[in-house]
Amino acid sequence: MSLALIIPDRKLDDLQQRLTQALPDTRIEIWPDISSADEVEFAVVWKQPSGSLAQLPNLKAIQCFGAGVDAILADPTLPALPIARIVDNSLTDTMVRYLDGVLSHYRLRLDQFSSQQRQQLWKPKSPRQISSICVLGLGELGGAAAQHFSAAGYHVSGWARTAKRLPGVHCYSGQAELALAVAEADVVICLLPLTAETEDLLDETFFNQVKANTIFINVARGAIVDDTALVTALDSGQLQAACLDVFRQEPLLAGHPFWLHPAILITPHVSAVTNVSTVVQQIAENYRRSQRGEALLNPVDLKRGY
Ligand code: NDP
Ligand code: OXD
Repeated sequence: MSLALIIPDRKLDDLQQRLTQALPDTRIEIWPDISSADEVEFAVVWKQPSGSLAQLPNLKAIQCFGAGVDAILADPTLPALPIARIVDNSLTDTMVRYLDGVLSHYRLRLDQFSSQQRQQLWKPKSPRQISSICVLGLGELGGAAAQHFSAAGYHVSGWARTAKRLPGVHCYSGQAELALAVAEADVVICLLPLTAETEDLLDETFFNQVKANTIFINVARGAIVDDTALVTALDSGQLQAACLDVFRQEPLLAGHPFWLHPAILITPHVSAVTNVSTVVQQIAENYRRSQRGEALLNPVDLKRGY
């Protein structure tokens, strides 16, 4: 029996070596060099080519190598099997640190000073006043970010699908409360999963509901945001800036209007990258569980899509 790593365009030696140590009796193979498709019983995947999982007739379970499973679920030939995703303190800490950094960038007006530098302009300004933050999505990452910013003294609101109680966070839920959740926010952070319900959710109507001059940060998935509506909101001043780590198509297409927009800060999907050393044990444990026919750790609810 074997475990297949279906993670194109990534060096996998370290993951292969660590999984071999954790599962000494199992062959760890790197797709597409699979010696026998019949023997693969577990697959660790990230942006798998459509159809690759359907070619493994004895697969018992699928482990997503990241937190978001939208790319797995988008495969029309996906076998009906249990799917697990990554939930990891190290991933959460990395995301919160990234968001802290982006907030400092805007608070210290580094966006404006960097633009002034290019114009050789000397114009001192005091830091931006950022007192209120809204986090869309209050799961593993959004919940931690919301509580972190609340503990740091911000007024924090959050929005989820179902009602939540989080210390220090004004929680809202359901479509009807989205406008209320963002109404007072100086900064809106998107940490929703991409699902049928959230695709294009942050559209023109949404950007008209935020306070004028809001700063928008998307670290979730690009397709949650209507690109044209975002640019319109920035051009009209409804949004004062946007930091985007994720895009509808990655890498971001050459010539896309985001690249050169003066109010957009782009990072190449790096806000929280899965850390091989901290996730290897949960992957190995899920492999063992799938062998025993047990429920996986951090399972995905296929009906909800996250
Ligand atoms: P979780 O599944 O733990 O949390 C998702 C949250 O979103 C939950 O609070 C959920 O509500 C809420 N939600 C889902 N659908 C809706 C909806 N229709 N309306 C309102 N709220 C909704 O996910 P994580 O926190 O682990 O991760 C969030 C996303 O972040 C991932 O799906 C991934 O796309 C992205 N990500 C990006 C990374 C990067 O490097 N840029 C790294 C890691 C993740 P409820 O609690 O009620 O279920
Ligand atoms: C993830 C990601 O979902 O890296 O883990 O985007």
